[in-house]
Amino acid sequence: TLRKAVIAGNWKMNKNRKEAKALIEEMKPLVAGADCGVVICVPYTNLETALQATEGTNIKVGAENCHWAKSGAFTGEISADMLTEMGVEYVVIGHSERRQYFGETDATVNQRVRAALDAGLNVILCVGELLEQREQGITEEVCGMQTKVALGGVSKEELKKIIIAYEPVWAIGTGKTATAQQANEVNHYIRTVVGGLYGQDAADAMTIQYGGSMNAGNAEELLAQPDVDGGLIGGASLKAADFSVIVKAAS
Ligand code: G3H
Repeated sequence: TLRKAVIAGNWKMNKNRKEAKALIEEMKPLVAGADCGVVICVPYTNLETALQATEGTNIKVGAENCHWAKSGAFTGEISADMLTEMGVEYVVIGHSERRQYFGETDATVNQRVRAALDAGLNVILCVGELLEQREQGITEEVCGMQTKVALGGVSKEELKKIIIAYEPVWAIGTGKTATAQQANEVNHYIRTVVGGLYGQDAADAMTIQYGGSMNAGNAEELLAQPDVDGGLIGGASLKAADFSVIVKAAS
């Protein structure tokens, strides 16, 4: 990559507080001094634990989602302000699992992105095509559309707080990684889309990650691609040793 990389773990629905603390303690010395951004996105119930355990370290803490409203009658939801008040700095928005299982649409992704930015959070915005969409040859259309709709109403200044994670849905949790070339191609295309919206300078400065079965074995090749500026790591972020190998590959 030409830009400083960001490696973000997405723990998904894993780890209780005790397990979270143990994992972070194990991870801390392994990623200390990394020459890339390091973020762990954890379940809401682990945020406090993660913030305490990472205090004074190079590890930033993120949530895995947030609601678009500031407050109100939205049983079971968490607002962006609730996260920033705790000291949380990042949030994942539009993960394919939210789109697949929880009715997330491009429009609600955009609303959540806006709310997160208004609250001052850094956003990890996920886009990516389904297997049948890749087979139909519409990967670029799908990723371009998701990117454009998600960034609706986002200013050039606000864009600096957004990381895009390209995650082909067929590669998530399947052990089937995109080839380094496939990842680079789509990341490059997304950068072109961002360039069309905000100008080449903004596109060149943007961190665009790859996510989908990135692990200790394949990270180096993926991260060596010019348009792959880091990774959003699911399964491999649950093991301190594996995660730190990926962090080192990005440093
Ligand atoms: O957010 C992370 C992605 O969904 C990748 O997950 O590394 O387990 O395939 P995975």
